[in-house]
Amino acid sequence: MELEGILQFFENKTILVTGTTGFLAKVFVEKILRVQPNVKRFSLLVRASNNQAATQRFREEVIKKDIFRILRNNLGANLESFIFERVTPISGDISYENFGIKDSILIEEMWKDIDIVLNSAATTNFDERYDVALGINTYGALHVLNFAKKCIKLKVLLHVSTPYVSSEKGGNILESPLRMEDTPKGTSRLVINAEKEVVEEYLGRLRVQGATNEEITSTMKDLGIKRAKLYGWPNTYVYTKALGEMLLEQFHQNLPLAIVRPTMVTSTYKEPFSGWIEGARTIDGVITAFGKGRLKSFLGHPNSILDVIPADMVVNSIIMAMVTHANKSSQIIFHVGSSLRNPMKLPSLSDLISLYFTQNPWIDRNGKSIKVSKLIVFSNIATFQAYMAIRYKLPLKVLWLANLMLCQYYREIRINLNRKVRVVMRMVDLYKPYAFFTGSFDDSNTENLRVAIRESDVDVNLFYFDPRCIDWEDYIMNTHIPGLTKYSMKP
Ligand SMILES: NC(=O)c1ccc[n+]([C@@H]2O[C@H](COP(=O)([O-])OP(=O)(O)OC[C@H]3O[C@@H](n4cnc5c(N)ncnc54)[C@H](OP(=O)(O)O)[C@@H]3O)[C@@H](O)[C@H]2O)c1
Repeated sequence: MELEGILQFFENKTILVTGTTGFLAKVFVEKILRVQPNVKRFSLLVRASNNQAATQRFREEVIKKDIFRILRNNLGANLESFIFERVTPISGDISYENFGIKDSILIEEMWKDIDIVLNSAATTNFDERYDVALGINTYGALHVLNFAKKCIKLKVLLHVSTPYVSSEKGGNILESPLRMEDTPKGTSRLVINAEKEVVEEYLGRLRVQGATNEEITSTMKDLGIKRAKLYGWPNTYVYTKALGEMLLEQFHQNLPLAIVRPTMVTSTYKEPFSGWIEGARTIDGVITAFGKGRLKSFLGHPNSILDVIPADMVVNSIIMAMVTHANKSSQIIFHVGSSLRNPMKLPSLSDLISLYFTQNPWIDRNGKSIKVSKLIVFSNIATFQAYMAIRYKLPLKVLWLANLMLCQYYREIRINLNRKVRVVMRMVDLYKPYAFFTGSFDDSNTENLRVAIRESDVDVNLFYFDPRCIDWEDYIMNTHIPGLTKYSMKP
């Protein structure tokens, strides 16, 4: 593996990035601007009505974020001019061919200039509408590939995926490509275009029936889960991401394609400073709900490994993957996580979460300090359901009497409680693959990158992504949860 100058690789290059208003791509853009100011141009695709609105979104949702604090401190009032000399926000949507860009001169210029493409756009909602998730995570990936193929100077397309595309398999999961015939269940034949037709058929039927938007959304969400489960994936998100990878694998031909599959991405470990995060996905949803006193228990196997990885390490591995796979007419996959090299067990995380919020209680919007007791982790669905039934259904005897008396007030309470139980059980179902994951993600390709860095004269302190250096207790208590409470937990 040749590793002459990582920084030189980005010098005078034009980079197309999708998903810049999202969490991960912001960390990437900030890092390149900070360490390689001689990048030629960033073309940043932003969903907006026009380029001006895209620029406005970029200004509000990207530059103003704390992640730019170091650059802001260094450049002061010159920050905006420094950024806009190097960055062009472009209005576009990956669910359309050519991102729906109508300006043919702009498109021609992009095809002529772009050297590197990072596709970080996705819908990361596990319970997304099937039509939306298929449009973005599956066909969106194909549209980015088709666009990249027309870029005459293209060195590499880097697509961000997730290792959970391998579904609920245990053991050591390899960095293998996904092929159409590789559905986890292996029983039903998967044809992606036929899935599009299923969606259109459902939408057509709903329209004829005069369904409301709410009914369409709910039917489309259920359809996503149903199709995912039919083939063996646990939720619409990982299923449609898997289909996206399959399309890339099938159609990339000779294009240099690197797929980075980070596990659960958490707050920055070190750069630009520790603890920056945006949003609260997967385990962070559990942490924030627990801190706010809304969640007292969760479901998970005592031996589950929670594979988390800080965002700056993911970005460093993306950078390294771009550099090392440039101009190679093949596909390569990198698992970027911690389960193999430095696994963190679910019980240790639940203990740390409980300890953190006991020592640092969350203060709600009324200034009230939220007291928490230890997070209970149930190891199987039956005990969890029993607990939920006790927690929410104890007053049923009273409600039964109230029902007999046709008391509307009590009925409403009961309907609400049942709905709450249903919502919790749906969440449990969606998160089950993470909370019951006992395998590990093999990361041989990523380890090769680490070895290459160690053996070269590249500054390891600038491009670190070795999870072995993480002390989980210290990171969770002093970096991650403080970051989460600062940036993602709103009163
Ligand atoms: N965060 C994690 O824990 C994690 C773990 C594994 C893999 N990943 C993958 O990493 C990538 C980045 O994730 P993230 O956490 O940064 O996600 P995120 O914060 O939810 O950001 C998603 C980004 O995609 C954009 N986007 C969505 N649909 C689009 C469309 N049709 N056209 C153009 N842009 C669109 C969003 O734009 P809007 O602002 O307009 O919505 C947003 O900028 C994704 O591919 C995700 O699957 C993330």
